[in-house]
This record gives sequence, C-alpha cells and structure tokens, in this order.
Amino acid sequence: MRTKTPPTPPSRITGAAPDPAALLPELPCALVAWFTKTARDLPWRHTKDAYRIWVSEVMLQQTQVRTVIGYFRKFLDLFPTLADLAAAPEEKVLRAWEGLGYYRRARGLHASAKLLVKQGHANLPPDPELLATLPGMGEYTRNAVLSQAHGLPLPIIEANSQRVLCRILGVQEDPARGPVKKWLWHAAAKLVCTRDPGAYNQALMELGALVCSPQKPACLVCPARPWCAAAASGAPEALPLKTARPTITQVTEVCLALRTGEGPATRWLLVRRPDTASRWAGLWEFPHQPVPDDSTPEATLEEMVQGLLGKSAKPAIRHAGIIQHAITRYQVSMRVELGTLKTPRTPALSEHDASAWLATPEIASLPLSAPQRRVWNLVAQVGPV
Ligand code: ADE
Repeated sequence: MRTKTPPTPPSRITGAAPDPAALLPELPCALVAWFTKTARDLPWRHTKDAYRIWVSEVMLQQTQVRTVIGYFRKFLDLFPTLADLAAAPEEKVLRAWEGLGYYRRARGLHASAKLLVKQGHANLPPDPELLATLPGMGEYTRNAVLSQAHGLPLPIIEANSQRVLCRILGVQEDPARGPVKKWLWHAAAKLVCTRDPGAYNQALMELGALVCSPQKPACLVCPARPWCAAAASGAPEALPLKTARPTITQVTEVCLALRTGEGPATRWLLVRRPDTASRWAGLWEFPHQPVPDDSTPEATLEEMVQGLLGKSAKPAIRHAGIIQHAITRYQVSMRVELGTLKTPRTPALSEHDASAWLATPEIASLPLSAPQRRVWNLVAQVGPV
C-alpha cells in the first residue's frame, strides 16, 4: 500500500493545476461519462470476473490491445477458470502464450494461480495485501484488477495514464524519476472516482490510447480539456518530458538447426533454456550464440558444431536465411544454418538444461520464443541436402 505521508510534489508543476484535489469531482466524473459513452468494445470489458480481468491486464502490460484480443479468447478457452490454469502443465501455458513474448508474465500467472488455489481460493479475492504477495503482481496489475472486478477505489499508473496525468497536472519533470513517479501515484489515488473506480481507471488508459496520444493529442475532442494544464499551454505534446533513449546495439548470432533422418523419421535437435535464465526461461530453441567482435559467423558456427557434437562430427551445412529481431536494446541479426547429420549424437550442453531430438509434430506443441518460431518456420521448409 502507499505511504501515509504525502510525497512532495515535483518541484516544477505549472500553475494551471497545482493540486489534484482542485480537479475534484468534475474531472473524474467527466472521464467516466466519456468512457461510458465511447469506450471500445473489448472482450474483458464484458466481465467482472477477477480472474478474467487479471489475465487481460497481464497480457496488456507489454502488448497492444489488438494483439491481446485473440490471445485473451484463446487463453480463456484453454483455461476458463483459476482452477483450470492452476491444474495446467507449464508447457501448455507457455504454448498458449507463444508470440506474446515476456514469458515471465505467463509464468507469474501460472505460479499465482497455483498458490491461490492451494490457499483455497476459487478466484482472486478483494484483498490488496494478499494479491501483493503473488509472483509478478505489481501495483498496477493488482489495482487494475481490484478496481475493475471488485470496485475498490485504487489508482493505476501505466504508460497511457501516466501521460494523461502528466499533461493534465502539468508535470514538468521526467515521470521516470522515482520521486516524480511517487507523487504521480499519490495524485492518481486522490483522483480516483469512488463511484466507479474501474471505469475511471480504464477511462484514463483509454484516453491515452485514443485521444491523448504521445505525438498528436486530439485536445479538441478531449473530455479532460477544461482541466488540462498541457492543453492550456498550447504545446501538449511537450509533456511528459522524455528520458534519453538507450542506444541500440547491433548483434550478429549464429543459429544451428540440426536434423537427422528423412521424411516422417526426421528429428531436430532442440535445447531447453534453464528455468533460471533471465529471458525465455523454460522455452525450447535451436542452439544459437553471438558472434564475438573478433570472430566471424563461419568460425562461430564451426565452434558451435564442435562444442555440441565433438570434433569428428561433420554435418552437411546449408545457409537457410537471416532473421532480424529486436530485444530490449539489441537489434539481433540471426544467421540460420541448417545442418544435416547422418546419425544423431548426444550433444554436450553447457548453459542449457536439456536437449532432445524431436519430430516435426512435437516441435509444433513446444513453447518457443517468437524469433525461434521464425527459425523453425524457415528451416522446416528447406528440403533434403
Ligand atoms: N491497457 C491496460 N489495461 C487496459 C484495459 N483494461 N483496456 C484497454 N487497454 C488497457
């Protein structure tokens, strides 16, 4: 829960709206009225079921609404209740998540569902303290679920609502800074509409998504315009103040898709990432590694083949293509090489915790990261050497 002493306001707030209390009750009511009239028809807006709203909010954390819609429906077809999710094997949950990325979210949902069911809950209870103990449950997700499903007057701040609040309140500081963020949470808490906190919180996000966009805010149609410090300034797009973007680093990787056998007897070598990996933990992949600055893709490939299979292995190699993908501040160019071995060998593994020679249908049901699924789609089409 938030601290009791109010945090100090950021040192530079414009004079237009110095105190969130000055906006009450008109602004929250106007936002709820606007939301009730114009909200998009989204599947999670047809329910008050806390489990379903939780799934939607976790999916929406790093993924766009239009992508989430299909995943949300599929996920709930597979796991319609908290108990169904808790009882599912992890690989099935990760497979349902495949393509959404940030798999830590799926793992958090699954682990939390198991914990809640073990404690005897059939759904997420209206208990902020208890929910705060669940893995992956941040303040935003918890408050979004509790306000929408249980009507608790708790604030939310995510990218869209943060931009909206920074503009309305005229915050002239970088909201990524700790004290500013703290003050924003405090201001958001004061502004929650107690009559319909769920609609109010969603209205803030909806406004940020549809009207108060980063580059071209549509102030003329904005329900918050009468109270908005940024609109009054004439340059609303100048807020929030932007943090410097990290520079993008280019990385080249070599990925080796090894196969053996022919036709329906073809097997592919895949390795499983350890559960402790910082990214894509527990997902399967074709072995890959970065090309060091002082090396070449050819030498790296040679080193990978020898490291995995020993010096005497001589798979026939064919270049299958290049896959580009971005991950955090890295732009990765992955050279995909297709290797064909006459007989399978047990690979030597260092950082992976399991490996298997798998048939084509098995790969379809395994959880793979999005770039690795693209590798698979690429190599699965290449014919015999
Ligand atoms: N982003 C996060 N939560 C959302 C919601 N409930 N509706 C639309 N976009 C969102």
